[in-house]
Amino acid sequence: MGSEKVRDSIANLKPGPGLPAMFARYKDMVERELSQAVPVSGDTDLATMMQYHLGWVDQTGKIAATPSSQGKALRPTLCMFACEALQGDLQQALPAAAALELIHNFSLIHDDIQDQDLERRHQPTVWGLWGIPKALLAGDAMQSLGDLEMLGCHKSSVAPSTTLEVSQILTESYLEMIKGQCLDLGFESRADITTDDYLQMIACKTGALIRSALHIGALLATSDRQSTNAFAKFGSYLGRAFQIRDDYLGIWGDENATGKSSDNDIRRRKKSFPVVFAFEKASGNARDDLIRIYGQDNLDDSDVEQVTAILEEVGAPEYAELLTQESAELAVKALEQVDLPSWARAEVAELVDFLARRQY
Ligand code: IPE
Ligand code: IPE
Ligand code: MG
Ligand code: MG
Repeated sequence: MGSEKVRDSIANLKPGPGLPAMFARYKDMVERELSQAVPVSGDTDLATMMQYHLGWVDQTGKIAATPSSQGKALRPTLCMFACEALQGDLQQALPAAAALELIHNFSLIHDDIQDQDLERRHQPTVWGLWGIPKALLAGDAMQSLGDLEMLGCHKSSVAPSTTLEVSQILTESYLEMIKGQCLDLGFESRADITTDDYLQMIACKTGALIRSALHIGALLATSDRQSTNAFAKFGSYLGRAFQIRDDYLGIWGDENATGKSSDNDIRRRKKSFPVVFAFEKASGNARDDLIRIYGQDNLDDSDVEQVTAILEEVGAPEYAELLTQESAELAVKALEQVDLPSWARAEVAELVDFLARRQY
């Protein structure tokens, strides 16, 4: 599929419903950069699998761009926003923004295999269609494209030393993400996970890349360490809020909005935040039932229903919302000392509010 055709077909798509204005502002630039970074065809399935995962083509490689099978592009948006808010040149942040999205998508292709999820963004997952061996390679290729894209920073006149610094930050952050994924999988078969263990795990699996998106965007605009560190801290809290909301949606989300199954987290015995909270709070029969069901190798529909009822009984959905809100407030606070133009401060508030309440 020619990159111009893909570009034209995705260029006219509107960002998803309810997304803050900043998403629309960077969307076309980021998509153009991405469409140049991903190969358009080849003699293997790699290009088709990657373009399919990105929601640009159908499984046969025919153009089929639909907004619901594309991601929100959160990480590139955060990177571009940090750069713009600190008066940087957006062109210089563009390769990094695209690289972040490629690395994020590499993690999703592999995550769906690890979580055995058959649906993502309202369509079958790559491994569900092409099988695990090929899907692993699609993820690997996406990771390499992300690395290459990042090294391309210098082509947009970023100084070589800055290119090296931001490349290192990206690589270190996705290494942390991989460690987080490994912790997440290890937690599935353990009943002793505390809220602190959980928070450390999500700081790695989700927080690290969101943090580096903001850190890198800031570093591409300024060398003032106080500001760049504040953006990194903002990202850490934002990542926490984001994942706790993701966990909430993984149980109580509307599948029509999230585009993924809302019983698989429990069926897979994931230690998502509501579950960890219930393990800590439940007592008596509810606690015995939770331990018994989570001790089984396989969970059926009635087990999932029973676990959900226990979570609701102990107030896990409300507590998840509270912790999301608290993390969102800490995120906003992290930027308090940074000198930001008023439009940027208003957009931070809008962004944080959206991420804490998002439905998808
Ligand atoms: C999903 O991330 C995976 C997590 C880290 C929770 P997003 O919700 O940003 O995924 P897309 O790219 O918008 O689909
Ligand atoms: C995804 O976490 C984190 C990464 C891919 C690094 P989840 O497994 O909780 O995310 P979803 O719900 O599948 O998107
Ligand atoms: Mg998953
Ligand atoms: Mg996962």
